[in-house]
Amino acid sequence: MKFIIANFKSHQTVEEAEDWIKQFGSGYLPTQDKSVILAPSFTNLWRFKRVNKIFLAAQDVSPFPPGAYTGAVNARQLKALGVDYCLVGHSERRRWFHETHQEIANKVRELLEQQITPVLCLDEPYLNQQLAALEGPGLTKIIVAYEPVEAIGSGQPQDPATAEQIALKIKGTTPNIPVLYGGSVTAKNAPRYTSQNSIDGLLVGGVSLKPDEFLKLITQA
Ligand code: PGA
Repeated sequence: MKFIIANFKSHQTVEEAEDWIKQFGSGYLPTQDKSVILAPSFTNLWRFKRVNKIFLAAQDVSPFPPGAYTGAVNARQLKALGVDYCLVGHSERRRWFHETHQEIANKVRELLEQQITPVLCLDEPYLNQQLAALEGPGLTKIIVAYEPVEAIGSGQPQDPATAEQIALKIKGTTPNIPVLYGGSVTAKNAPRYTSQNSIDGLLVGGVSLKPDEFLKLITQA
C-alpha cells in the first residue's frame, strides 16, 4: 500500500477548493494499492469530506485538549469532522511558527488519543531528537514523512537513492513504520521514489494544487 498525500498548504478559498474537487473528481480512479489523502486548510475540510474514496487530513492540530486556547483547533474537533490523518511538524511550521520537538510530540499525543494517524514530518539532522521527544508506544502508530528542507518547494528533489538510505535509517529506529518522501515531487519523478524498497509513499506540495498534474502523479506513483 502506497500513501499519496496532497498538502495544499495555505492555499484555496472555498470556491477554489470547489473547482479543484470538480476537476479531480472527473478524472480520479481509486485503486486498491494506493491511499490518496488530501490535506486542505481547516476552512475547507468540511468540503473535502464529501470527496469520494479519499482520506481526509488536517495540516495541523492543537497541542492541547479542548479548552480555553483561543484560535486552536483540537484533535477531537478534527475527529468529529471525519479527519483520519494529520500532518505535524512540517518544516514550515518549525521555521515560521517556531514549533519545538516537544510541542510536536504533544500534538502527536493529542492525535493518537483521538485515533487520528499523525504524519510526522521531519528532516534528518534532528531525526533522533524528534523521535526521542515522542512517547514510546505511540511511535508504532505514526507515519513519518521524510522531507529534506532544501528540497521543499525548490524544484530540486533529493536523489532517490539518498532518500532511500534515510528512509531505511528511519525504519531502523522504529520497525514497520511507513516512511514517505516529500520535496519537489512531480508526476515525472514520483516513480523514482515509490520504486524504492523503503519508501511507502509521497507527500506532495506544489504539484497537488493542479488537479490534472496530481491525477497524473497518482497514476505514475
Ligand atoms: P513541495 O512541498 O512538493 O512543493 O516541494 C512538499 C511539502 O512541503 O510537503
